[in-house]
Amino acid sequence: MASEEQPAPASGKREVHCADALEWLAGQGVLTGCSLITSMPDVSEFPSYTLEQWKEWFVRTAGLVLSRCPDDGVTIFYQTDIKKDGTWVDKGYLVQKAAEQLGHALLWHKVVCRAPAGQTTFGRPAYSHLLCFSRGIRSDLGRSSPDVLPQAGEVTWTRGMGVEACLTACRYVLSHTPTRTIVDPFCGHGTVLAVANDLGLDAVGVELSRKRARKARALRMPLGDSEPETSPEDDAD
Ligand SMILES: C[S@@+](CC[C@H](N)C(=O)[O-])C[C@H]1O[C@@H](n2cnc3c(N)ncnc32)[C@H](O)[C@@H]1O
Repeated sequence: MASEEQPAPASGKREVHCADALEWLAGQGVLTGCSLITSMPDVSEFPSYTLEQWKEWFVRTAGLVLSRCPDDGVTIFYQTDIKKDGTWVDKGYLVQKAAEQLGHALLWHKVVCRAPAGQTTFGRPAYSHLLCFSRGIRSDLGRSSPDVLPQAGEVTWTRGMGVEACLTACRYVLSHTPTRTIVDPFCGHGTVLAVANDLGLDAVGVELSRKRARKARALRMPLGDSEPETSPEDDAD
C-alpha cells in the first residue's frame, strides 16, 4: 500500500492511499474526528458480477463505509442511478438500506440536477442523489439549505463528483459537525479532497487505480486544466 502526504495550498492537509478501500476500511477502527464523503463504484466496474451480486456488494460496502463514521460525524454519498436490463436501480435506496441496518439516520436527501428539469434522458437519469447520514447528529430545520442543486458543478471526468455537490457536502460537515477531516474511500481523481482542502479541512483518500490516486494527490482548486479521463464504461457512479 503506497501513501503520500503533502500540504494543500489552503490549510488542509491531504493523504492519498493507493489501496483497496475495503481492506483499508477493514483495517481502520472508527475514524475519530472524521466525516466520510464518497461516491461508490458502479456495476460497470464489476464486469464479472451479475446485477444482483453487485447490489449485494454495494449494500455491504456502504455498510462498511458507514461503520467507520464516528457518532459526531456524517457520511455523505453521491450516487447516480442506472437503468439496467429494463429496470431502474435506485442507488439512493441501496445506501438507505445499509444505513437502516446500522442505525444511521438520514439527515437529508438532496437531488443534484444533471440535466434541466423537464428534459427526457435515455441513458443515465437527469439527477444524482446526495444523501447524508449520521448516528449522533440531528438536523436543525432552521439551518436547512436547498434540497435541489440546479447543477453538480465542474467535473474532471464522467464519474467525477461535481464541485458544487462537493462544496455542499463539505460545508455541511464544517457547519454541523466538529469533525475536520474528510475521508473519501473511493476518491477517484480527488474532487472531494481538493474541495475539502480548499475549505481548510484535512482530507484522506483511498483509490485502487494508481493513475487516479496520482491525480488525486495533485488535484487542486480551481479544477481548471485537469486532464480528462474517459472510457466506454464511464456511464455511472
Ligand atoms: C465513482 S468513482 C469516484 C469519483 C470521485 N468522487 C471523483 O470525483 O473523481 C469510484 C472510484 O472508485 C474506485 N474503486 C473501485 N473499486 C475500488 C476499491 N475496491 N478500492 C478503492 N477504490 C476503488 C474506482 O477506480 C473509481 O475511481
